[in-house]
Amino acid sequence: MDTRVSSSIVILDFGSQYTQLVARRIRELHVFSAVLPCTASVAEIEALRPRGLILSGGPSSVYDADAPRADPAILRLGLPLLGICYGLHFIVHHLGGTVRPAARREYGDAEITRVGAETPLFEGLPRAQRVWMSHSDEALELPPGFHITAESPNALAGIANEQERIWAVQFHPEVAHTRYGAELLRNFALRICGATPDWTPEHFITETVASIRTRVGNGHALCAISGGVDSSVAAVLVARAIGDQLTCVFVDNGVLRRNEFHQVQQNLRGALGLNLVAVDASRRFLARLAEVSDPEQKRKIIGREFIEVFDDEAARIAEQTGGVDWLVQGTLYPDVIESASVHGPSHTIKSHHNVGGLPETMKLKLIEPLRDLFKDEVRRIGRELGMPEDILGRQPFPGPGLAVRILGEVTPERVAILQQADEIVVDEIKQAGLYGTIWQAFAVLLPVKSVGVMGDQRTYAATCAIRAVHSEDGMTADWVQLPYALLARISNRIVNEVRGINRVVYDITSKPPGTIEWE
Ligand code: XMP
Repeated sequence: MDTRVSSSIVILDFGSQYTQLVARRIRELHVFSAVLPCTASVAEIEALRPRGLILSGGPSSVYDADAPRADPAILRLGLPLLGICYGLHFIVHHLGGTVRPAARREYGDAEITRVGAETPLFEGLPRAQRVWMSHSDEALELPPGFHITAESPNALAGIANEQERIWAVQFHPEVAHTRYGAELLRNFALRICGATPDWTPEHFITETVASIRTRVGNGHALCAISGGVDSSVAAVLVARAIGDQLTCVFVDNGVLRRNEFHQVQQNLRGALGLNLVAVDASRRFLARLAEVSDPEQKRKIIGREFIEVFDDEAARIAEQTGGVDWLVQGTLYPDVIESASVHGPSHTIKSHHNVGGLPETMKLKLIEPLRDLFKDEVRRIGRELGMPEDILGRQPFPGPGLAVRILGEVTPERVAILQQADEIVVDEIKQAGLYGTIWQAFAVLLPVKSVGVMGDQRTYAATCAIRAVHSEDGMTADWVQLPYALLARISNRIVNEVRGINRVVYDITSKPPGTIEWE
């Protein structure tokens, strides 16, 4: 998808865990940025009309035989270059210097001091700075034309060849621990590269809508809607481009949250004016899920069933519209980056974040208008599109829905029990004003029964666990220290209002070692 603005910064990924952060920092300057795998060809890079290139860090050593390698021609494109950590080593190694294992590895906080003549990368920054290091190699000899711009107590921390417009730093300017990192990246993107800070939500929408319109022409597109932020924003964006040539399909798989099937329909048809087909396939899904307890089995059944239902609908819609050519997906940047690893774009996307392999089976061409964006940027786009806050602020919900929060067998009765408990959790968290600050908060129905006493009666009923986590991207998470009074209200309401649950426990496991979902 062509979402270009007047200029961009391209980041070549050598496998660093921080590559996403680099892109993010550049976007915070309102400069369009895209991450490509380091194996990208010069043509692929140039297609993005970059004003500058950033070479990311990475876990390998440049002198290893299987070290990730970019085409050395990228060093001679005439574009300003910024190497970060491994990026520095790559530049040194390929321009005639030497890199070797460091005498003293540097991990974590360090102080660097600028040395030598002024260089634009450090303009306006103090001479001594706290930075974040994470490396075990060092540049020993610099390539011709380079000089040292900064030093740590152990090694060089920055180099430059202003003539060739190449800068590199040993530390990580993208992480928050590097005190002046954002300023350094600003110097690179705006001052050195001269990129125009015109990447705004409004600009993005105009460009994307125009480009979708051109691509799709008179064709027809389908969008599988989950009711979540990503697919809703993607659908609204595409609908703005092609109107009724887009049909959204929303499937009730029997494991949605309480009233969700109706609420989502109201939101999408009413508030967003989307052309929506809602399919109640709940019986069909629940019948397939009967007597299945294995988590992966549940996921597979739901994935497979979804494809069948979607396929049937697609065939019907194709008959009415004379054919369907496109599939809209709300893929985000973090999903893409997982695939755009150093091994090239075809490697892996976390399987559970795929929409069940729809494109391969249906031979549809993909429209992924959000694939360059982070979640909060998607929310900003949604806001600019005038979408209501209660859609944009929704917490993530897994594709297999409540099925992976019902441990053991998924029966209609157990779904109903969990739906009630989940509604109470969400309601109380919202009333406490915490919903927007928490990544996910939900209830889990355990296959554990315990003894209790209610109104002088002995009870023997199910246990429910409450889970609430803070997370940036779902990859790691911390359990939330919810106020005791809030936990007390949630527990009290659940045992009083939900028949079938007589005990509530709170999950105090972070990720790792736990996962966010229980299955
Ligand atoms: P875990 O449980 O792996 O979850 O720590 C990380 C994030 O992914 C969501 N999740 C899923 N999303 N299909 C999805 O679409 C799935 O099968 C699935 N499993 C987990 C989870 O809710 C969390 O946000």
